[in-house]
Amino acid sequence: MSTQAQISNFPVVRIDAIGRHSGEIVTLRGWLYNKRESGKLLFPIFRDGSGLVQGVVAKSAVAPEVFEAVKALTDESSVIVTGKVRADQRAPGGYELDVQHVEVVQRVAENDPFPITRKEHGVDFLMEHRHLWLRTPRQAAILRVRSEIEKAMHDFFDARDFIRTDPPILTPAACEGTSTLFPVEYFDEQAFLTQSGQLYIEATAMALGRVYSFGPTFRAEKSKTRRHLTEFWMVEPEVAYLELDGLMDLAEEFISHIVAQVLARRRTDLEALGREIARLEAVKPPFPRISYDQAVGLLQEGHAKGALEARFEWGGDFGSPDETYISAQFDRPVIIHRYPAQVKAFYMEPDPRRPELALCCDVLAPEGYGEIIGGSQRMASYELLVQRIREHNLPMEAFQWYLDLRKYGSVPHSGFGMGIERAVAWLCGLEHVRETIPFARMLYRLYP
Ligand code: 4AD
Ligand code: MG
Repeated sequence: MSTQAQISNFPVVRIDAIGRHSGEIVTLRGWLYNKRESGKLLFPIFRDGSGLVQGVVAKSAVAPEVFEAVKALTDESSVIVTGKVRADQRAPGGYELDVQHVEVVQRVAENDPFPITRKEHGVDFLMEHRHLWLRTPRQAAILRVRSEIEKAMHDFFDARDFIRTDPPILTPAACEGTSTLFPVEYFDEQAFLTQSGQLYIEATAMALGRVYSFGPTFRAEKSKTRRHLTEFWMVEPEVAYLELDGLMDLAEEFISHIVAQVLARRRTDLEALGREIARLEAVKPPFPRISYDQAVGLLQEGHAKGALEARFEWGGDFGSPDETYISAQFDRPVIIHRYPAQVKAFYMEPDPRRPELALCCDVLAPEGYGEIIGGSQRMASYELLVQRIREHNLPMEAFQWYLDLRKYGSVPHSGFGMGIERAVAWLCGLEHVRETIPFARMLYRLYP
């Protein structure tokens, strides 16, 4: 067996870069993912976070201790492996490792094996063991795509000279309605976890022109759905002098950019997840833009054809079957604009031609993934904003600072928010948002 000193002479490489070392001896640091045996041959599969590689250990080619150590390895034991990289077209990544030496960092005990096995587990069991479930290749692929989406959005805003400004998490009042506020004791006062950074970045947009924020946001969602988390990460741009049409252009460019970057850099992960790539390749500008009125027309048509159970009446908000039906009419995201003000938040600018409508837009993802973006032009008038805060029964004192923005150089401005979990679910083709974030928070889920 080689000594530690000899081993340390070999380059330590990550599995995704192993192809650059074909024919060389390298060291990998990771875990045993799985193992097969066939007589005098062992086939351990190693993972290191960047990928999987199969090792080959021939009894005749290694020291007996090495053979025995690999033979006794249990799943998820941590190991440092040295071996020679060999190109093999049959291997999943195109390479195998002829193992020469293995150092077992920590061996998982036989009588307390790694709980996640390759058999089917129920969702509750998996969520209860989320800290370990994350290690499986599918979950790791999802997290790589999530990270790429985050990078793509930062790249997008940076290339357009947006300044990232971070809004507070602890806030004195609601932004998106009082029914989903999480209260927090704040010394002698009542505070709430933020529902959206929007109101604060409206202030920073007046200071810097074009800004964005990215951070955790919270909604006490009491319903169990495939699309709702109680804690999710929202990216929000806010731009001075931008009006609704420009906002829709921005949303369309933003989504197209993210999809293109993920396709360019994370295609292998998407393929591993079984995502239909062609569906994502269709996501290019221009996106269809329809008014709320037109969307209602589509829904009523759908009802007449028997595709929707209930007849949708003008004035309501779309439910999940409605969104799915509308998005199914298009091959790319669809933008719906000018909803009735009564179903939207207090801060939206009314349409001057039809004041019962708000100058807002939602973007619905294709394939039934529902609303991924919500945004609007913001109300510019001080008097109207005071009136809306009253009508929505919001505490006027908590909004004095926000009203100041309409007193000191008020300008038309607009922004949107995208919950990145919905984007991850859509791009990865996932059933449920619980797999889109390392540790999901939902109605009945606060552990681990
Ligand atoms: O439509 P929403 O509520 O809009 C706002 O919060 C605005 N203040 C944003 C802005 O204009 N700056 O939420 C925006 C997006 C939704 O389209 C959706 O993607 C996501 O946030 N979202 C959620 N994602 C997961 N779980 C939840 N409970 C979500 N609620 C909203
Ligand atoms: Mg919304």
